[in-house]
Amino acid sequence: MREQWDSRTAFVLAAIGSAIGLGNVWRFPYICFKYGGGAFLIPYFVALLTAGIPLMILEFSLGHKMASGAPTSFAKAGRGKEWIGWFALLVAFGIVSYYAVIMGWCFNYFGYSFNLSWGDATKDFFYNKFLTISEGPFKFGGIKPFIMLTLFISWIAIVGCVWRGPKTVSKVVYVTVLLPWLILIIFVIRGLTLPGAVKGLSYYLTPNFAALRDIEVWRNAYGQVFYSLSIGFGIMIAYASYLPKKSDIVSNALIISLADAGTAFFAGLAVFSTLGYYSYTQGVAVPDVVEKSIGLAFIVYPTIINLLPFAGKLFGALFFLMLLTLAIDSAFSLMEAGMAGIMDKWKVKKRWAINIGFGAIAFFAGIIYTTRAGLYWIDIVDHFMQNFGLMTVVLVECIFLGYMFKLSVLKEHCNALSDIRVGKWWDICIKFITPLVLILLLVFLIIEKIKGAYGGYSRGAEFLGGWLILIVFFIISIVLMKVRSRK
Ligand code: PHE
Repeated sequence: MREQWDSRTAFVLAAIGSAIGLGNVWRFPYICFKYGGGAFLIPYFVALLTAGIPLMILEFSLGHKMASGAPTSFAKAGRGKEWIGWFALLVAFGIVSYYAVIMGWCFNYFGYSFNLSWGDATKDFFYNKFLTISEGPFKFGGIKPFIMLTLFISWIAIVGCVWRGPKTVSKVVYVTVLLPWLILIIFVIRGLTLPGAVKGLSYYLTPNFAALRDIEVWRNAYGQVFYSLSIGFGIMIAYASYLPKKSDIVSNALIISLADAGTAFFAGLAVFSTLGYYSYTQGVAVPDVVEKSIGLAFIVYPTIINLLPFAGKLFGALFFLMLLTLAIDSAFSLMEAGMAGIMDKWKVKKRWAINIGFGAIAFFAGIIYTTRAGLYWIDIVDHFMQNFGLMTVVLVECIFLGYMFKLSVLKEHCNALSDIRVGKWWDICIKFITPLVLILLLVFLIIEKIKGAYGGYSRGAEFLGGWLILIVFFIISIVLMKVRSRK
């Protein structure tokens, strides 16, 4: 019999754990601020309702009906479609390869917080002392041993969490989901009670409706929803395949999606109230403090920790512990999805061997990010995986399941099990709205790339970190599909 979750709660927590990750704490608040503040919530909710939730229901129904990981689920749904599942897993692999490196940074910073070793010049510390960043992507300048060591520790932790599959995950998630929630609540209370908090919040939430006319805003809303809900990675398909026969699909999807969106919004309160405090004590405007990218967590937060009136070290350690526990269940969800893909196809019994093999490959793939040029590569790979990779998977998924397969089969399966039933709107979202929006956004992205390489990097770096990886992933997906499975 197929392995199963210990309970419904374990499944819901595991899926929430996958969804809630670094994306909620630093990405959502910053994107929301950048693209219209409070007005961003409109495209975000449109994307959540028309694409996020319907696709979550779709992925749950597919995984549950086929009772397999992503590749085998797609193979069962149609001849020659197995590659979609592999491609989804590979894109997720691309993401997790650097996600684990950021976890490694968190380990380092967790250690630093005990004596605030980042000093006063936190930006200089991050770039020039911690990363010792080189001048450009091709100036590797050697590996940073401590980052590599913590990357190794991250992978040991990730592999440990999925050691016996859903059985182990079912237990681990009680800690990795509930603990960061608890810490986040502490941070929201701490943030809101600091002077200047209101000013920060007003930046976060003041609506700028003019932004809604910008296609870039919509692209970010859709991208953020897929990324954050862990949709289009084959993860939710695998997780649903471990559910017992009788499981309510729609209400699970609703709980998980709303918990994820709610946490992102809530994290924004913590982040922006603290930024308000920073702006208050330093006399700088909030927008000048909002670092784009991951700098928010590793530059602005340490500065704020330095400034806290009491227990700065404790809050520092708690903050990085929160990031670590948020990240780990996102990282291992992907590993579990990959394991399900491999085990379903080749019926391997020795889970431990694939566990170690998978962890080792991912560790070695991550070494490039531990060099002095690592940050550049994280930036490029992240952009391409999230935009082209993820959006292509979701588009292909909608077109294939919507047009080349009987969508009604999945709908009936889902409705037979769920209290809330999905109606016509669901078909419309999957067959028309989401694919049309995605095609538009992809065309827009391609035009942007024709105009100039991403982020001002050289075309060579863009090709290696972006296009080449995607092409190679596509070829590997086809090859994996062609390799004979073991019956
Ligand atoms: N959902 C995760 C987040 O919000 C991102 C993620 C997706 C991480 C897939 C790993 C795999 O951070």
